Amino acid sequence: MSQPRVRTIVVLAAGEGKRMKSALPKVLHPLLGRTLLGHVLAASAPLAADHTLVVVGHGAEQVTAHLAEVAPDASPVLQAEQRGTGHAVRIALDAAPDQTGTVIVINGDAPLLRPETVAALVEAHEAAGAAATVLAAEVADPTGLGRIVRDEAGRLEQIVEERDATPAQRALREINAGIYAFDASRLRDTLGKLSTDNDQGEEYLTDVFGLLVATGEPVVVHVAPDATETLGCNDRVELANLRALLRDRVNTGWMRAGVTLLDPATTWIDVTVTLERDAVVDQNTQLRGVTTVAAGAVVGPDVTLIDTGVGADATVLRSHAVSAEIGPRASVGPYAYLRPAARLAEQAKVGTFVEVKNSEVGAGAKVPHLSYVGDATIGARANIGAATIFVNYDGVAKHRTTVGEAAFVGCDTTLMAPVEVGPGAYVAAGSAIDKDVPAGALGVARGRQRNIDGWVARRRAGTRSAEAAERALERAAGGQAGATENAPSGGGGASQGEATHVTADAGGLGLAKGDTATE
Ligand code: UD1
Ligand code: CA
Repeated sequence: MSQPRVRTIVVLAAGEGKRMKSALPKVLHPLLGRTLLGHVLAASAPLAADHTLVVVGHGAEQVTAHLAEVAPDASPVLQAEQRGTGHAVRIALDAAPDQTGTVIVINGDAPLLRPETVAALVEAHEAAGAAATVLAAEVADPTGLGRIVRDEAGRLEQIVEERDATPAQRALREINAGIYAFDASRLRDTLGKLSTDNDQGEEYLTDVFGLLVATGEPVVVHVAPDATETLGCNDRVELANLRALLRDRVNTGWMRAGVTLLDPATTWIDVTVTLERDAVVDQNTQLRGVTTVAAGAVVGPDVTLIDTGVGADATVLRSHAVSAEIGPRASVGPYAYLRPAARLAEQAKVGTFVEVKNSEVGAGAKVPHLSYVGDATIGARANIGAATIFVNYDGVAKHRTTVGEAAFVGCDTTLMAPVEVGPGAYVAAGSAIDKDVPAGALGVARGRQRNIDGWVARRRAGTRSAEAAERALERAAGGQAGATENAPSGGGGASQGEATHVTADAGGLGLAKGDTATE
């Protein structure tokens, strides 16, 4: 297939889209990773036209700003008053730097159009040496659309809008999809002859076809292979329908490419996402923006990933991530929240109710439960105990915390940045660390425990706690009287008794209770 020589593309995007009932211009409504307008531009981009003109009007500023972002090479052309699609094209051609060759015109609200279909339309147009070619489709419900009216020989006679159609014309189910190819000079001449003698008092681009036929110019009807491609969007019900159709198209493409989707009906993948073979996406999952999922990774159920990379064989379960990097074989969730610049190295683990922002979690490092990790660098194979908080904000500025390789941070610890826990260092559970802990040291920073014997019997007499305590003390007195250093002093004379426990048990989180601070 030779590359069609398209000089100019005109996208019509000045309309208000009244029936959307929205403050947002219709063509800026999002649909799986692009706006409606973005989809149209993407479908026509492979034509590599010399000039792309986008007619803007309603919400011109917003649409122009969006164009600068997604298609900086496209030029906005202002149609201050929306006097019809013919008028819009006339204004665009006046602004076009090149008045020759093939001109493609596309309604800005046809997001399901495939690039192949646009290319085939151009191909058919040029092969026939046509003055104009329209993309048509046979649809079950043509309500509201322009009808393709043919003569007995099947040749195009005219395109008639529904509101101007006779009952017989309304019964036709072949519709104008709103995508056309024109020969520039003949389009120009004919646009000058358009009238506003119709129900809406507008200049209809579609009238160009009847006028060309009347002067014996060759026109072509190119029928779309898949009618759903030609669907426009006029209200939010149609938008939801388009979204579901596009979801199915995208999902089918990925399954055919070797990705397992366990429940395609609840899997929403933006057109900008990439997945590798043998990735698995479980149900109720949204993959958005420039998200990538590598081979063998399992994502979902109940996951939303936005602009996030997932490495090979990683798992992400019931979690939300934005602009994060999840390394190979890393494990995330259930119920994790990865915020921008959260970077998990290979085999790192971020577990349940853990939030990570602007931090590196090193290879094989673990943050398994109930923690906040902000502005931190966690070394390889470090272990961050449950309920550790990286205190990164002093009310004015954010500061960083570094935890060295294979360090062990006990549960319920706050690390007050800027602070550093050295490689292989330990931090005792329950510590509030605001000074560096050197490599290999134990940092302890918490109040000492004291037990006041008999307090419950005195101050909470008659409660179920007091009764339980009494039974336990009786059992202890009967069974092993005098065997523990913590035994009740009997009777209750000993008020405010203090019994500091120093235990050698360094297991779990009772680590080095009552020990001294870093030496
Ligand atoms: C148009 C076609 C109709 C076709 C349908 C396909 C005409 C007269 N009718 O109808 O035959 O079946 O599309 O969806 O063209 N626009 C402007 N400036 C204007 C008017 C419209 O830029 O002055 C833009 C709109 O923003 C929209 C596109 O042109 O993107 C089509 O306009 P719309 O009003 O939606 O046309 P339809 O009535 O749907
Ligand atoms: Ca429309």
